[in-house]
Amino acid sequence: MSKCVLVSGGAGYIGSHVTVELVNAGYEVVVADNMSNCDLTCYNGVCSIIGKELPLVKMDFCDISAVQKLFTEYKFDAVIHFAAFKAVGESVDEPLKYYRNNILSFTNLIEVARKKGCNILFSSSATVYGESETLPVTERTPRQQATSPYGNTKQICEDILRDSVKAYEGINGIALRYFNPVGAHPSALIGELPRGVPNNLAPFITQTAIGKRECLSIFGNDYPTEDGTCLRDYIDIVDLAKAHVCAVTRMVEGRMKDGYEVYNIGTGRPVSVLELVKTFEKVSGKPLNYKFAPRRSGDIAAIWADPSLANKELGWKAERSVEQTLAAAWAWEQHLAEK
Ligand code: UD1
Repeated sequence: MSKCVLVSGGAGYIGSHVTVELVNAGYEVVVADNMSNCDLTCYNGVCSIIGKELPLVKMDFCDISAVQKLFTEYKFDAVIHFAAFKAVGESVDEPLKYYRNNILSFTNLIEVARKKGCNILFSSSATVYGESETLPVTERTPRQQATSPYGNTKQICEDILRDSVKAYEGINGIALRYFNPVGAHPSALIGELPRGVPNNLAPFITQTAIGKRECLSIFGNDYPTEDGTCLRDYIDIVDLAKAHVCAVTRMVEGRMKDGYEVYNIGTGRPVSVLELVKTFEKVSGKPLNYKFAPRRSGDIAAIWADPSLANKELGWKAERSVEQTLAAAWAWEQHLAEK
């Protein structure tokens, strides 16, 4: 009998790509989402890609009785938790909104999941490393004091999962630390759908190319890097999604070496902002209107992953090139413009 995975926040950008890969790998999937930061576009796109409808439960994980009800209706072998707010700037302005939502929803989920012996995968972020002195970062690189409430909720939730797995019998946990997720499904039926002006680089690039934004500002060209712009590890969204399948399979097959494990999910390849812009111009054939602007506060000069632990233990490796990733992001933006 196939195993069943709950994907909280499964109608969003990362959740929808993970849902497709789970179904491709033979898992039953239940999507749960309060739809506070997305519409049905990605959920419908997922159903078109996999050729069937999936259960979509509209609910809020801050409501523990709704979580309990969900776990009585279905028997889950694992849950992947994406349901959280994610805007760094907004979290600085409204910290309580972030602490309340991101932490309460996760503690509710663990509270209910642990009693059912359901394994938990938490969607964490490279933001937990802050500005590391040593690069690339490994999972043993010390975490630094978070620079935003959003980043702090990632650290706190990692710790909550670690402590819960230690204290309660019968559940395992994995935290995946994503670097910079970019791109879209090759079908161009699902992708990133930022509300309002995008904060992240890739959607800002594609929206500028399509004419939704006038000009891309490159924040800072005086960083101590080769071309003066920041270095990041851009991980293809489909590669990222596949890492979740490897991690869930490791959990449900009882192959974990420790009750709580942490993995970097990145390519191991630093790419500068300017390089990303130039590569986009090459793959799209469109010159991009961009200018250099002052540094954005809170940005770090460089971070990229050492993904060797995930390569070895999860049997996962990022496969897609930056060119393929940006071509997919561009196809998605064009698909949106045709709608
Ligand atoms: C941010 C979050 C990270 C989150 C990630 C999601 C922090 C500090 N960062 O990472 O937790 O997981 O988003 O993708 O918490 N840039 C421009 N112009 C723009 C937008 C961005 O030049 O219009 C530059 C930035 O200065 C940065 C790079 O592009 O150097 C990437 O920025 P962004 O996509 O926002 O991601 P991060 O800040 O790295």
